[in-house]
This record gives sequence, structure tokens and C-alpha cells, in this order.
Amino acid sequence: MYAVCSHAKCILGIYSVSDMTVKCPCHSAKFDLMSGTMTEPPFVAPNAPNKELGLKKYRIREADIFRTRILNEANNLLHQICFLFIQINVARKEINDT
Ligand code: FES
Repeated sequence: MYAVCSHAKCILGIYSVSDMTVKCPCHSAKFDLMSGTMTEPPFVAPNAPNKELGLKKYRIREADIFRTRILNEANNLLHQICFLFIQINVARKEINDT
């Protein structure tokens, strides 16, 4: 959901988990977190058309490139850990052989 108030473009940020809303710190407009609908108009514009002042919503989806990047990072980390174990074992053997 868009995080900028549709009234006068303040950054939203006072979340209420109990009623699932976000409140604008500038003029106290309230927006429903699920739908983006303005549920309370700004106190400076009590007759604001709530329906037209709703927030834009965006779909979030996982992209394959993100998944691939995570897997590559995990593989790199695993290789580094394996390499470290090999080095430790080689060092141990050298110590035991002396
Ligand atoms: S800028 Fe958000 S209520 Fe006015």
C-alpha cells in the first residue's frame, strides 16, 4: 500500500494493529490497512470524499530472480563453511603429526 497520505502527502506511520488502520500524523486521517480506504477524513477537511482519497495498493509477488539470489547466497555461505572445516581438519592433522 502506498505510504503517503492522499490528503496533503505526509508520510503515514501511526499504525494500529487493534483496528488494522494507519493514521496520518499531519491531520489524523485514518486508512484501512487491508483496503487502503480512508476511514476517517482529515480533521482540517471533515467533508473530504473518503472513497476518492483511498490509498493505492500494490501486489507483492516473489520473483524467481529473488529466490535464485537467496539460493546463491546460501550456497556461497555453505561453501565457505565447508572450506573452513577442511582448513581446520588440515591444521588439526598437521598438529597431530608433529
Ligand atoms: S496530510 Fe494526511 S491527513 Fe492531511
